[in-house]
Amino acid sequence: MTNLILFGPPGSGKGTQASKLVEKYGLLHISTGDLFRYEMGNDTELGQLAKSYIAKGELVPDEVTIGMLKNKVNANPDVSGYIFDGFPRTIAQAEALDAFLVEKEDDITALIALDVDDEEIVGRLLNRGKTSGRADDNDESIIRNRIEVYNNETSPVFDFYNKVDKAFKIEGVGGIEEIYGRLTQTIDGLL
Ligand code: C5P
Ligand code: MG
Repeated sequence: MTNLILFGPPGSGKGTQASKLVEKYGLLHISTGDLFRYEMGNDTELGQLAKSYIAKGELVPDEVTIGMLKNKVNANPDVSGYIFDGFPRTIAQAEALDAFLVEKEDDITALIALDVDDEEIVGRLLNRGKTSGRADDNDESIIRNRIEVYNNETSPVFDFYNKVDKAFKIEGVGGIEEIYGRLTQTIDGLL
């Protein structure tokens, strides 16, 4: 199995690149943000809970997100691997993911981070907000909170995988194809 974590701040291009990478490598794209938005769209209990955090740019509690992620993986066992997008976002989520994969006699192949600076992110998200229909992309103070949460709680996940030599960083500013080329070059070097 090839299990990749596509990492980086909100608006760094994870979703865009994951859609391209799944086609090339035949992996299943799991975006926890998309899963939450699906639940919110259907106004489920999980969706309502998630919305109370997402609307403020905060993280949904680990147990909730981890449970949802496991359900998605368990519902799709017959794949050659996964691209995790937007997960893990905390050290607790990374530990839970590793333990979950160990149970399946599997592991994370690599974490690849898209490096994009904070001011570029604010501009991109405000721009995306014009068409994404996402309330959390439309308010600069929520965007800044999401970036702060990323810097405080999520960025340590890079070091967590770096300690076991599984973390890679690539330049996340440039054209979509240019960045895709950097990603595939890194991934091909690992397979
Ligand atoms: O990944 P994405 O940016 O689409 O996620 C949107 C929002 O969903 C995040 O800002 C956060 O509120 C919530 N989320 C979360 N935990 C995750 C993924 C997303 O709390 N692992
Ligand atoms: Mg996304």
